[in-house]
Amino acid sequence: MSLEVLKQGAEGRLYIDEFKGEKCLVKERFVKRYRHVALDSQITRQRIKAETKAVTRCRNAGILAPRILHTDLNERKIYMEYFKHAITAKEYIQRVVVEQLPETTEQLLKKLCAEIGAIIGQLHANNIIHGDLTTSNILINPKEEQHDFNKHEVVFIDFGLSHYNQGAEDKGVDLYVLERALLSTHSEQPYLFEHILEAYRKKCGDDENIVVAKFEEVRARGRKRTMIG
Ligand SMILES: Nc1ncnc2c1ncn2[C@@H]1O[C@H](COP(=O)(O)OP(=O)(O)O)[C@@H](O)[C@H]1O
Ligand SMILES: [Mg+2]
Repeated sequence: MSLEVLKQGAEGRLYIDEFKGEKCLVKERFVKRYRHVALDSQITRQRIKAETKAVTRCRNAGILAPRILHTDLNERKIYMEYFKHAITAKEYIQRVVVEQLPETTEQLLKKLCAEIGAIIGQLHANNIIHGDLTTSNILINPKEEQHDFNKHEVVFIDFGLSHYNQGAEDKGVDLYVLERALLSTHSEQPYLFEHILEAYRKKCGDDENIVVAKFEEVRARGRKRTMIG
């Protein structure tokens, strides 16, 4: 059997396979030889469980995430719904910038940020902390026509570092991780985060000011750390 490998990295690999006749994506994590065996297996299990739990929580809350079809803790694999035509938000943003005129670019990216912000707001309103918010962990799935990415749904993925927490601190950190990721990956579009935050505020529940204040506190701490070195 030849497997179509989507991604091969140090942590693991992603490939296309079938589960009960359905084409799916398998995410496999490698055994880390340099890590203590028991600890390594514990970390992997924890991540697989975190991913399954978060996806269930998302779907119960009406937030899109790939369905988990099967998990195999011993083989360190998650079988999930495969969005065949999707691209990452990172790719989408880069494409829009290259292909569109500046005015259209701004319009499309503002719309995308509003969508992303609203979803993160929903996640946090449900106390789901993603743990690794980057534009590589967000999919743009075209509706109907395979190549028209401007009509799409936004799907969050990669919940292996996620957890459940009601507190504002973890939500603030989640936002801070995203801000840092955006500034490094999309440095030419420095306005993305503010549009995301604007939409976020409307959806994150009634304690938006507390969360945003926490986020600003975390950011200030981050700055101080950078200054000290
Ligand atoms: N359900 C999916 N459908 C389509 N593509 C996916 C799906 N899940 C992941 N991908 C693609 O694979 C990449 C890596 O998956 P991810 O879950 O983020 O694992 P990693 O831990 O390696 O970052 C994503 O950035 C995306 O391009
Ligand atoms: Mg990822």
